[in-house]
Amino acid sequence: MNDMTPTSAERAAKLEGMGCKRKRVEDIRFVQGKGNYVDDIKLPGMLYGDLVRSPHGHARVKKIDTAKAAALPGVVAVITAETLKTVNLAWMPTLAGDTQMVLADGKVLFQNQEVAFVVAESREAAADAVELVEVEYESLPVNVDPLKAMTDGAPMIREDLKDKTDGAHGKRKHYNHVFSWQAGDKAAADAAFAKADVTIKEMIIYPRVHPCPLETCQCVASFDKIKGELTLWGTFQAPHVIRTVGSLISKIPEHKIHVIAPDIGGGFGNKVGAYPGYICSIVASIVTGRPVKWTEDRIENLSTTAFARDFYMDVEIAATKDGRVTGLRCYTIADHGAFDACANATKWPAGLFSIISGSYDFPAAYCLVDGVYTNKAPGGVAYRCSFRVTEAAYCIERAMDVMAQKLGMDPAEFRMKNLIRREQFPYTSAFGWQYDSGDYQTALKKAMESVSYKQLREEQKAKRAAFKRGETRELMGIGVAFFTEIVGAGPSRACDILGIAMFDSAEIRIHPTGSGICRLGTKSQGQGHETTYAQIIATELGLPADSITVEEGNTDTAPYGLGTYGSRSTPVSGAATAMACRKIKAKAQMIAAYMLEVHDDDLEWDVDRFRVKGNPERFKTMTELAWAAYHEVPPGMEPGLEAINYYDPPNFTYPFGAYICVVDIDVDTGQTKVRRFYALDDCGTRINPMIIEGQIHGGLTEAFGIAMGQEIHYDDDGNVTTASFMDYFLPTAVETPHWETDWTTTPSPHHPIGAKGVGESPNVGGVPCFSNAINDAFAFLGTTHIQMPHDHWRTWMAAEKLGLHA
Ligand code: CDP
Repeated sequence: MNDMTPTSAERAAKLEGMGCKRKRVEDIRFVQGKGNYVDDIKLPGMLYGDLVRSPHGHARVKKIDTAKAAALPGVVAVITAETLKTVNLAWMPTLAGDTQMVLADGKVLFQNQEVAFVVAESREAAADAVELVEVEYESLPVNVDPLKAMTDGAPMIREDLKDKTDGAHGKRKHYNHVFSWQAGDKAAADAAFAKADVTIKEMIIYPRVHPCPLETCQCVASFDKIKGELTLWGTFQAPHVIRTVGSLISKIPEHKIHVIAPDIGGGFGNKVGAYPGYICSIVASIVTGRPVKWTEDRIENLSTTAFARDFYMDVEIAATKDGRVTGLRCYTIADHGAFDACANATKWPAGLFSIISGSYDFPAAYCLVDGVYTNKAPGGVAYRCSFRVTEAAYCIERAMDVMAQKLGMDPAEFRMKNLIRREQFPYTSAFGWQYDSGDYQTALKKAMESVSYKQLREEQKAKRAAFKRGETRELMGIGVAFFTEIVGAGPSRACDILGIAMFDSAEIRIHPTGSGICRLGTKSQGQGHETTYAQIIATELGLPADSITVEEGNTDTAPYGLGTYGSRSTPVSGAATAMACRKIKAKAQMIAAYMLEVHDDDLEWDVDRFRVKGNPERFKTMTELAWAAYHEVPPGMEPGLEAINYYDPPNFTYPFGAYICVVDIDVDTGQTKVRRFYALDDCGTRINPMIIEGQIHGGLTEAFGIAMGQEIHYDDDGNVTTASFMDYFLPTAVETPHWETDWTTTPSPHHPIGAKGVGESPNVGGVPCFSNAINDAFAFLGTTHIQMPHDHWRTWMAAEKLGLHA
């Protein structure tokens, strides 16, 4: 070796592997407007579909007259439930095992429900024809309040289920009951409450919100009558699931369905399931023999596609008087809307909500969740959330603050005292989850030091005194939140969707010149997968990240996978990628041993090469080995250098974080300024710190939107009043605060590269942190819990209720 020979560290840096702030390769096409979205797909002879939707929240459909619409020039077909019945597609299965009307069959159950599908030569003609479809409705009583859904005389939402006595997890309690699900140990929790020094109880509502990706849901269906094959391009977060479910519903053999998810402009859970527009487009393509494109507009997206949250959580905590938590109970009503189309693993109808004991060492805990039907749109997806962990984190983090307040303890100090300690990991919670790794106290301590927490509290104390003396009209709030996520669905023993086990996969093919392609069953919607999977391969195989193409979203080429949502890509497919690399590396080692004429065991790995132990001058680089794999393999070995791995994780991963927020509230206007927001995240091994930071900025911005103003709201007649961005708060750069990000690194012990997911974390931790800050601002005046969203008006109302405007 001479001075010019690069060191191992220099060679490693050139690979741009794990830990490198590699620039996002996909951005080259995105920033130039050269992405390929569904809207860019234009096929010869393509038709356009548009949906007639119900103006009523609940009504009987007496008659549908399509004659005038059908007669409009350019209109090719008008499809109703009657048409769909001829192909047995009037109803479709949901991801939660319920059935959902594709087009209104006798009744409409929520405003903007799909009633008829018009197919025309242009989008404009289809939209005009929608106006000409005449539907006669007879309105019915409406219920949009989940707390009233199971009362006597409540409007029956699902007449089709009136004789159904069993829900997915036991007896139905009422005709509007979807399921009951419980977890934990009721007797142990009750006993803890019986002997508690201090208890709190609070109804904590997480309102209905919407993932609102900027690109709405859309598809192009093209049925080839000669081959009997369907090609479906669409905004699909889980393309293989769409193929399998599509085959089961349509009876088209699965190998004759080609699902392609091109570039996607944000998903956040909204693009996991199947929507009536997809089914109608497929049927329309079969009927007309031409490709059919369907594109939602904003109102359709916000008011009919999968919503999130809508959980009403009645939570209780028991504690000793010196501030140790001893028990947790929570009864929850979950509003599922008109059809149960939640995207949850089958065994978990309330998702992973039983992570509700959060980051704290609760000896006993119990929760019971009842799902109910109402006259609202179906959904209940994991919006930047691992199933229902976001609701759980919000609930426990608000409840911990309420308890701290009752005990007269500082919220951070109270948390510090109850956090699971480092030496307790792997930690089994009272709900049976096994948290893989964590160092919670270190994270919270670092967060508190970084924001000078003590000084902030002193400043707040002085401000409160000044407020009481009438010297200021501003309240200062400090929000503390500590969250534990549960991501990486999932271990197949625990998780499946409609019977399909939740593993994931990666297939890597290294070409003779040492570049390669990796294909996966996940699907990026902006998370930067093309960049980060290549970084895992770079480190594992010693090939530059730039030499690896990452391809997702084509069911014909990618190995079977369950898609991207709930931060599962890194915990599951990231692991599959590393494992596939290790198979390739094992073969490369055998080739190297053969070429260097040594035993396999006499070789050691050094960044990008196998070298002879004790003789580092004798080596074969991975690039040389790739070439050899195609022409110089040992006798009896198959040529080629590729591998596939289906990874079934042994456990979830448990990222965590400590967030602190400071707000200043003008009590006379309700205006809230976010002075600081500090977010410390621990996602185990960090693959790309820059992408992680981007994920956290994005998730915090969403959390800001949710906490400070978002709600999909219905009036008593079932009208959805927040179905456009004029009414639904979507923060822009103007409103969004500055984010301070930080990290600790506690690798997952069971993940091949120690990585945990991160994409969901900021939404999970951010919302309670904002809400705790607002609540903290008012707490010294005697309030315990002010419901979200904390928009200016509601914050002003909170001040008004306290008599602060007198
Ligand atoms: O499933 P999804 O892609 O939404 O979430 P994720 O697994 O949390 O990954 C989001 C992005 O952050 C991906 O590009 C990951 O590779 C990246 N990431 C990372 O760089 N390091 C981690 N430990 C976790 C995620």
